[in-house]
Amino acid sequence: MAFATRHFVRAASSDAATVAAKKLLIKHVTIIGGGLMGAGIAQVAAASGHTVVLVDQSDEILKKSTKGIEESLKRVTKKKFADNPEAGAEFVKKTLKNLTTSTDAASVVHSTDLVIEAIVENMEVKNKLFKTLDKFAPEHTIFASNTSSLQITQMANATTRQDRFGGLHFFNPVPMMKLVEVIKTPMTSQKTFESLVDFSKAVGKSPVSCKDTPGFIVNRLLVPYMMEAVRLFERGDASKEDIDVAMKLGAGYPMGPFELLDYVGLDTSKYIIDGWHSLEPNNPLFAPSPLLNKLVEEKKLGKKTGEGFYKYK
Ligand code: NAI
Repeated sequence: MAFATRHFVRAASSDAATVAAKKLLIKHVTIIGGGLMGAGIAQVAAASGHTVVLVDQSDEILKKSTKGIEESLKRVTKKKFADNPEAGAEFVKKTLKNLTTSTDAASVVHSTDLVIEAIVENMEVKNKLFKTLDKFAPEHTIFASNTSSLQITQMANATTRQDRFGGLHFFNPVPMMKLVEVIKTPMTSQKTFESLVDFSKAVGKSPVSCKDTPGFIVNRLLVPYMMEAVRLFERGDASKEDIDVAMKLGAGYPMGPFELLDYVGLDTSKYIIDGWHSLEPNNPLFAPSPLLNKLVEEKKLGKKTGEGFYKYK
């Protein structure tokens, strides 16, 4: 038994050593989509010493993204280098030097190790992009999507590199939120998975692993919870204000469910729940809400439009 255990440990550690030796050290990253998430991912990747190319549809959008990154970096360094502003300024300069932009994804992926997609949440558009990039990226390049609600497996199937394809789900705001969900499809190789885990750690995040299942971990728990709060309110069991207070003071959550819905955006929440409902129409956790649908129809989408469940000035 002792021998068997020793043998097993040796075999397991030599397997681990083989995978470790084969892991891809990601140095060059291409991020497609310079919006809220893509810009945040570009920021943390560049700040941790990676060479980053940020891609979007126009120079105007990219200018806005770069400006946002610079401002965010200055905010971060103000705190981090409070005693040494010169070192802070140097850090901002060095980080921005690691970052370039482009409007032509196909022409910049020829020497990249990792492509992270953070464009519009639409399967057709994402698949079209991945299919094109698959032709231009080198053999070793890993593709990852930052999607919140779409199936990674379907995107991987639009390419010829299913084994070098996974999910990297960052959280908003990226520079602040520590978590990354690393998503493994049935085709993702162990080498790809471990390379994505290492990359997540290298950008200063704490990775967790999940299979390619609706909502992964966080949203699979969070979205039904928020929907259940809406249903509680719809039935007239409690006011939205009291539900928010209850979850903050009783469960220790930093925001109540209605505050969180307004922060995330009611359109985004509706989009997610509608997608899951069409996948599993009999699952009561994924049932649509008439009140949420009405607010979205009235363009009351939350903080970003000035009104959702609450009004904002
Ligand atoms: P966003 O709307 O802020 O940014 C998307 C950007 O992609 C825009 O700048 C747009 O011009 C660009 N874009 C669209 N199609 C493109 C194409 N074919 N090529 C190059 N650029 C293109 O969206 P956001 O919020 O950053 O979301 C991006 C992705 O991240 C989505 O898949 C979303 O589900 C996911 N996500 C969003 C979170 C959030 O809180 N907003 C959280 C986690 C994931």
